[in-house]
Amino acid sequence: MRVAIIGTGYVGLTTGVCLASIGHRVACLDTDQTKIAALKNGKIPIFEPYLEDLLADSQHNLEFTSSYAEAIPGAEVVFIAVGTPPTPSGAPNLEFLSQAARSIGEHLDNDFTVVVNKSTVPIGSGNWVESLLRDACEQRSDRRGPEFAVASNPEFLREGSALHDSLYPDRIVIGADEPRALEVLYTLYRPILDQTFPAPTYLPRPETVSAIPLVSTDLASAELIKYAANAFLALKISFINEIGLLAERVGADISEVGRGIGLDSRIGPRFLNAGIGWGGSCFGKDTAALIATAGEYGLHLPIVEAARKINCRQRDRVVEKLLHELKILKGRSIGLLGLAFKPNTDDLREAPAIEIAQKLIDRGVRVKAHDPIAAERFCREHGKIGVQLCRTPYEVADACDALVLVTEWNEYRDLEWECMAKRMRNPLVLDGRHALDREKLQRAGLRYLSLC
Ligand code: UGA
Repeated sequence: MRVAIIGTGYVGLTTGVCLASIGHRVACLDTDQTKIAALKNGKIPIFEPYLEDLLADSQHNLEFTSSYAEAIPGAEVVFIAVGTPPTPSGAPNLEFLSQAARSIGEHLDNDFTVVVNKSTVPIGSGNWVESLLRDACEQRSDRRGPEFAVASNPEFLREGSALHDSLYPDRIVIGADEPRALEVLYTLYRPILDQTFPAPTYLPRPETVSAIPLVSTDLASAELIKYAANAFLALKISFINEIGLLAERVGADISEVGRGIGLDSRIGPRFLNAGIGWGGSCFGKDTAALIATAGEYGLHLPIVEAARKINCRQRDRVVEKLLHELKILKGRSIGLLGLAFKPNTDDLREAPAIEIAQKLIDRGVRVKAHDPIAAERFCREHGKIGVQLCRTPYEVADACDALVLVTEWNEYRDLEWECMAKRMRNPLVLDGRHALDREKLQRAGLRYLSLC
């Protein structure tokens, strides 16, 4: 099938490359011409494992452009995957979405086209996009009345494992009020639903994956599924962090508690890792948007609100713990291991490291940091904060009064901790992710603390 994707961020680019890899002809459009020029040369503007490989393997089915006139006519499916960044009120900024919808409407041809919202948009956006498309069509000088339908196809991929999540998803959700749109999207996703595409060698199909469940529903339900899923994951993390606080007081081990409850198949083991809490561009933004939408209907969502509060508190707890241990923070040197909001990405949006660094600097601490991938981006985007970036974790340890593990990159698990301890002024490690081996660190002469 012929597909156009508007927006080449994480979601748009991953979707485009995956659809091309399973045999569709895909035009990826972005108004940022520098990005498009780089993509034409096979250069990916983000760090995402195997994306560059899959792009190279699928090049014959991919086209990159900044022109709607090139991308839209002839496309059977048009995905809108533009950014919807948060505004101060919590509601997402829909400017890029409305611009994209208008430009699509101006260029639709006469064949039936399904326009799909892949961006996380407020509930009701499907209808709004449809009205924008209709307005744009009516204003066309050629007076043609293209046939189209709007659908919602929320994205559940995680950064760092975006391709795996797209090719082997837990489910695909499609929402549309017009049955024809559902049929088109069913055909588009069929190779993934039936798992009939040849798996790339570097992304082998997991043995447990066979047919993928499809949830085909109405527009509003699909839109709400996305928000409810992210809110639930966020509150699962906040729940374990809240229990972690109590665990610390009663002398229980929160990792054991998480394992013990997660083995109950009704609860499930994932997203129960206690620690610094969630970061990233999604959970914060989507929980805020859900609360804002509920507010428009005169509703409160106290559980979601509490999950957000607990998440903020976890950042404060890092500072409180260090203050408790070191007594005086002013003039101390504290090292952060990891800057990205999670491992295997260079994304720094809402990264806990930024907030923690700022809080420490505000208290007169000299903050040093290392990240295997995100350091360069940090320097570009957050250089002003005044964090000293180090080339290795060992440099971070030099003359440090404490180290905080903020992002659980694999390489931090296997550091030569004796060597780290010797370099530190005060051999103290605060494990913000329950990722380090307590006994190993203690054997190496370090005092080990976890966040809860
Ligand atoms: C999240 C969702 O997991 C995806 O399903 C969704 O598609 C995406 O948002 C989105 O809406 O675009 P992502 O933000 O990439 O994906 O990353 P996650 O793996 O969900 O991690 C989010 C944050 O939670 C990270 O900071 C991570 O360190 C933290 N986390 C995760 C915990 O603190 N504890 C856990 O047990 C799991």
